[in-house]
Amino acid sequence: MTTPSKPSASQATLVIVAHPHLETSRINKRLAAEIDGIGNVTVHRLYESYPDEKIDIAHEQALLTAHERIVLQFPFFWYSSPALLKKWMDEVFEHGWAHGKGGDKLNDKELLIAISSGGAQNMYQAGGLHNYSYSELLRPFQQSANLTGMIYRQPFVVSGIREVNDEQLENYAADYGVYVSGVTA
Ligand SMILES: Cc1cc2nc3c(=O)[nH]c(=O)nc-3n(C[C@H](O)[C@H](O)[C@H](O)COP(=O)(O)O)c2cc1C
Repeated sequence: MTTPSKPSASQATLVIVAHPHLETSRINKRLAAEIDGIGNVTVHRLYESYPDEKIDIAHEQALLTAHERIVLQFPFFWYSSPALLKKWMDEVFEHGWAHGKGGDKLNDKELLIAISSGGAQNMYQAGGLHNYSYSELLRPFQQSANLTGMIYRQPFVVSGIREVNDEQLENYAADYGVYVSGVTA
C-alpha cells in the first residue's frame, strides 16, 4: 500500500522528464509544461540535457542531493522506462552513494513515478491484455526506492492516451501540478 505525497512548502522537488521525442509528444510535453516555473520544482529534461546520452554522474548526484522529492516522469515503454532513464539509474545510483556501505545519500527522500501509457487502465489487470497492474509492473522502481532508503509514493498514471481528449488532458495537467507541487490551485 503506497500513500500520496504531501510535501511541505520547504521541500524541493526534482522532476526527471525522460522522453526521447518530447517535442512531438502530446502527454508528457503537456505535463512537463504544467510544472515548468513552479517554485521549488526543478524540471530536468534528460534527453535534452544529454543528446549524446553521456550522463554527468556528479552533476546528477548533486541535483538529487539538493532535492527532497524526486519525480520520474516518462512514457511507459515495454512496461518500463525509456532507455536513458534506465541508464541514468544504473549510473547515478552508485554503490557506496545510493546503496551499499556508505550509500545513504538518497535516504528519506521521496520517490514518485509519473507515467503515460498507451494501454487503457482496464487492460492492466489479471486477464486483461497486459495482465498485470501498473503497481505490479512498477515494482522495480518501488524496490529500488526500498533499497536506497527512499519513500515510495503513489504513482501518477495517465492511461489509454488515445482516448484522452484535450479537455481531459488539461484536467490531467492540473492534477499533475498538484501531484508535483502538493499545492491545490
Ligand atoms: C517503444 C514503445 C514502447 C511502448 N510500450 C508501451 C507499454 O509497454 N505499455 C503501454 O501502455 N504503452 C506503451 N507504449 C505507448 C506509449 O506509452 C505512449 O505512446 C506514450 O505514453 C504517449 O505519451 P506521449 O504523448 O508523451 O508521447 C509504447 C510506445 C513505444 C514507442
